[in-house]
Amino acid sequence: MSRGLRPLLIGDLKVELPIVQGGMGVMVSTATLAAAVADCGAAGTIAGVALGYGTPENESDYPAASRNALREEICKAKAATKGVVGINILGALTNYDDLARTAAQAGADFIASGAGLPLSLPQHAEGTDTRLIPIVSSGRAAAIIARSWKKRYGRIPDAFIVEGPMAGGHLGFHKRDLQPPAPGVLEELVREVLAVARDCADSPVPVIAAGGIFDGKDAARFFALGASGVQIATRLVATHECSVAQSFKDLYLSARPEDVVIIDSPVGMPGRAIRTPFVDRLLRGEGEPFHCGYQCLKTCDPRTAPYCIAKALFNAVRGDLDHAVVFAGSNVSRVHEIVSTRELLEGFAAEAQAELARLV
Ligand SMILES: Cc1cc2nc3c(=O)[nH]c(=O)nc-3n(C[C@H](O)[C@H](O)[C@H](O)COP(=O)(O)O)c2cc1C
Repeated sequence: MSRGLRPLLIGDLKVELPIVQGGMGVMVSTATLAAAVADCGAAGTIAGVALGYGTPENESDYPAASRNALREEICKAKAATKGVVGINILGALTNYDDLARTAAQAGADFIASGAGLPLSLPQHAEGTDTRLIPIVSSGRAAAIIARSWKKRYGRIPDAFIVEGPMAGGHLGFHKRDLQPPAPGVLEELVREVLAVARDCADSPVPVIAAGGIFDGKDAARFFALGASGVQIATRLVATHECSVAQSFKDLYLSARPEDVVIIDSPVGMPGRAIRTPFVDRLLRGEGEPFHCGYQCLKTCDPRTAPYCIAKALFNAVRGDLDHAVVFAGSNVSRVHEIVSTRELLEGFAAEAQAELARLV
C-alpha cells in the first residue's frame, strides 16, 4: 500500500509539510527566512545564537543584547506568519538558560537544542507550551536525554532531531569520521534513535532526520525508514528570503566539492565550512587573536582560542568573506540557483511524495 507525506506532529503541534528548517547561526536563519518557511506549512527555525552581535549593547551587556534581540526576532516572525516557528539554541552558550527561558516565554513554538546534551532544557520552558526537541548524533545521546528528562522533570522530548555527519555547521562527530563522511551513517543513526523513540514513551516520539538531505528523493528514504520529518538547512540559504549578503549566497553557488572543508572551532566541535581566505589561514594553523569583553561559549577561553567563531560567522552574513567562516552542508556543491522558499519546499515535498509512493 502506498503512503503519502503525513503532517509532522511535535507534541500537539501540527506541521503540515513534514520539513523542518535547520537553525543557522549566526544570523543566517533569522525571522524573515523562518517566517517564509512557516508560511509554506513547514517549520521555520530562528537561530538564537548571538542575535545581538554588532550592536553597541552587545559590548556593554552581552546577555541583555542577546535576550532582547531574540525576543524581537520571535515577535517579528510571529507577526509575519501564522505558521510554526521555533528557536535553535546551541548548548555550548554561556547564556543558554537565559535564552531558552526567553524563547519559551516569548512564545516560540519549539526549542531545538544540540551541541551538548540539553539536560536542563525542560526547566527553562516550565509553565509554557513550547515543545522541546533535542538534536542528537547518536541513539545513546537520545536515550540519556530521555531517561534524564523523565526522571528529573517527568517529561519526554516532543521529537528528536538526528543530525548526521553530512550536515553544515558544528558537528557531533570526530574529525576523522567527516572527511568524507561514510555513506549510510545517517540511516544507521535514524534507526538507532527510532528504537529509543519507540521505547521512551507510550506512543513513539517523532524522529526528524538531518544532514545532507538534498532533495525529495533523499527525504523519502528517511520517511520510508520511519522518520516523521526531515530537517534541511543548506538549500534554504540559496533562497531569496535568506537575508545573508549576496556574496555568501554566491559562494554557495560556486562551491565545488573540494572547497568544502572541516575546521576546528572554539565551540570544541569540528565544523563544516566552505574555503575562504580566512578558512585557508585557519587550515594553515594561523589564528586571529581577538579581544573579548564577555565569553559567549562555555568551551572558549578567549585568551587562548585561535579565533572568535561568532565574529567570523557574523563577518560571513555581512559579506566580508576575507574574514569569514561560511558554514555549509556537504552537499553545497549541488546548489546551483537561488529560488524562492516556496518553490524549493513545494518541489521538495512533491518529489518526496512521488518517491515515497514508489518506495512504500
Ligand atoms: C550556515 C549553517 C549554519 C548552521 N548553524 C547551526 C546552528 O547555529 N545550530 C545548529 O544546531 N545547527 C546549525 N547548522 C546545522 C543545520 O541546522 C542542519 O541541521 C544541517 O545543516 C542540515 O543539513 P543540510 O545543511 O545538509 O541540509 C547550520 C548549518 C548551516 C549550513
